[in-house]
Amino acid sequence: MSNYIDDLNWRYAVKQFDASKKVSDEDLQKLIDAVQLSASSYGLQPYKILVVKDQAVKEKLKAAGYNQSQFSDATAVFVFAHQTDFDAELVDSYIELSERIKELETGTLEGYANLMKNALLNLPQEAKAGWTSRQAYIALGNLLSAAAAHKIDACPMEGFEAAAFDEILGLTDQNLHAVVVAAVGYRSAEDETQHAPKVRRPQEELFEII
Ligand SMILES: Cc1cc2nc3c(=O)[nH]c(=O)nc-3n(C[C@H](O)[C@H](O)[C@H](O)COP(=O)(O)O)c2cc1C
Repeated sequence: MSNYIDDLNWRYAVKQFDASKKVSDEDLQKLIDAVQLSASSYGLQPYKILVVKDQAVKEKLKAAGYNQSQFSDATAVFVFAHQTDFDAELVDSYIELSERIKELETGTLEGYANLMKNALLNLPQEAKAGWTSRQAYIALGNLLSAAAAHKIDACPMEGFEAAAFDEILGLTDQNLHAVVVAAVGYRSAEDETQHAPKVRRPQEELFEII
C-alpha cells in the first residue's frame, strides 16, 4: 500500500486532463463508494451528488464553468448539490433507514430523531443551507483523498455559475443547489501544474498544539 502522505503530495488540482484517457466505470465506482462513506453531521448526508459522464452535458457545464477545460476533458464531473432547505422528512427518512439497517424496532430511535429535529428544523433557511453545504464539502474532501489513494486525478472547482448548473441539471425543482464540483480523470502530460511545488502554510502557522 502506498504512503498516504505521498498520495496527497502526488495529487494536485489538475488544470489539463488527457481527454483520451478515461477512468473506467469500475474505478469511478470506487470513488462513488468512498463518497457514500463520507462522514456528515448526525449522518444525515443532506445532499446529492450528480456524476456527469455524458459528453454533451459536460460541454454545457463547461460553458457555464467559465470555459474551464476540465469540465469537458475529465471523464466525469462530480457535482455536489446541497439541500437548500429541508424539513422533518430529512430526519425521518434517515431514522427509518437506521432502524432498518440496525434491525431495530420502529420508534427505537425516536429520541435521537427529536434531538436532531430540535437542533435543525428551527434554524433560519440560510443557516440550514450553510449547514448542508458544509456537509457537501466534507464529501468533496473525501472524494479528493480517495481519488489520490487510487491514483486517479481530480480538480475541485468552485469556478462555475451555480444557477446555470442548477438549470442544466434540473436541480432547483428538487430543492438542490450545485455548491462545488470535482472533475475526475487523468492528468495530461502537458499539464505544467503537476511539476509545481506544493504551496502550503507552514505547520507552525496552521497548527497550535495545546
Ligand atoms: C473548493 C475549491 C474550489 C476550487 N476551484 C477551482 C477552480 O474553479 N478551478 C481550478 O482550476 N482550481 C480550483 N481549485 C483548486 C485550488 O486552487 C487548489 O486546490 C489549491 O491551489 C491547492 O493546490 P493543489 O490542490 O494543486 O495542491 C479549487 C479548490 C477548492 C478546494
